[in-house]
Amino acid sequence: QNEKDSQFIVSNWAKDHYQKLLHETEEGESIGLSYLMQRGLNQTTIKTFELGYSLDQWDDLLKAAQKQGFEAKYLEKTGLTIVREDDPNRRYDRFRGRVMFPIHNVSGRVIGFGARTLKANDKTAKYLNSPESDIYHKSDVLYGLFQARQAIRTEEVCYLVEGYLDVLSLHQGGIKNVVASSGTSLTESQIRLIGRYTDNVTVLYDGDAAGIRASLRGIDMLLEGALNVRVVLFPDGDDPDSYIRKVGDQRFKDYLEKNSQDFISFKTRLVSQEAAHDPVKKAEAIREVLQSIAKVPDPIKRQVFLQQTSTTFGIDEQVLITEYNKLVKKDS
Ligand code: CTP
Ligand code: MN
Ligand code: MN
Ligand code: MN
Ligand code: MN
Repeated sequence: QNEKDSQFIVSNWAKDHYQKLLHETEEGESIGLSYLMQRGLNQTTIKTFELGYSLDQWDDLLKAAQKQGFEAKYLEKTGLTIVREDDPNRRYDRFRGRVMFPIHNVSGRVIGFGARTLKANDKTAKYLNSPESDIYHKSDVLYGLFQARQAIRTEEVCYLVEGYLDVLSLHQGGIKNVVASSGTSLTESQIRLIGRYTDNVTVLYDGDAAGIRASLRGIDMLLEGALNVRVVLFPDGDDPDSYIRKVGDQRFKDYLEKNSQDFISFKTRLVSQEAAHDPVKKAEAIREVLQSIAKVPDPIKRQVFLQQTSTTFGIDEQVLITEYNKLVKKDS
């Protein structure tokens, strides 16, 4: 317990340090802050999410932490520093020259960081993240949940996006009920976490092939978690952040209204697009939809979805139910 407390304390201190660098140093302002502003973020958003900047040096954080009297092992355990391979007695900062996104748990304590490079063609990854630690389990966290949780309750829906910037831009645009899975595929514990606040999730993944694939996977998992799922697709090449920046807050909200579809229509459209009149393809599409329906734990909802599918495809409901039962048997 002491161990965890120390990791919380050093993480919170690092968050303060990165914030100071962003707002109070020449490098932070001219590189970090100007980058965030160029991405359309305002001071309120930057402060609300406690964004920061790490200097482009090997040991800025390390030195500052030593000055504060922090033990090296806590910097190590939280992944803020890395031990040198050639000399295990020496370390260096993990995050250098990056915009820092603190990751909070639901009670608002900092447990880790995401960090974006500012270089256009950086050879290293666009985003670096804190490694797993005693206080940070990536698969149990949703970015932005701390800032979103009230709005999720009052709006009675949670918007699920892929990235940090998507959360920030939507929040700034007045859509505060938004959280990010942070690029990885959704986990059961993330879904349980959402379920504490609402039964309704709308998936807003990137409008590219990877985003569509992730949506399909996510839908089935959300259904299994007994949540109601809707999906909004964005034009290819856009993500929620780029799209809201392009069209503005109001048109973005209108777009969500107009383009939000339930998972049956989403899957139906997706699978049957190529071959609306090809009976083989159509049968495949129907089976795809039935697969998702099989994930729904509530038998009454399942029944309603089966009726809807029957109408959508113009297939007799009894035939559909027979097919559904075969499919479920095969899987079990
Ligand atoms: N991600 C990551 N590591 C990477 C790439 C992505 O952890 N190397 C995670 C980040 O949480 C990121 C999310 O996946 O926010 C979505 O990735 P992507 O769409 O590529 O980035 P964006 O969030 O759109 O970031 P940006 O707009 O700054 O390019
Ligand atoms: Mn865990
Ligand atoms: Mn993407
Ligand atoms: Mn983006
Ligand atoms: Mn993206």
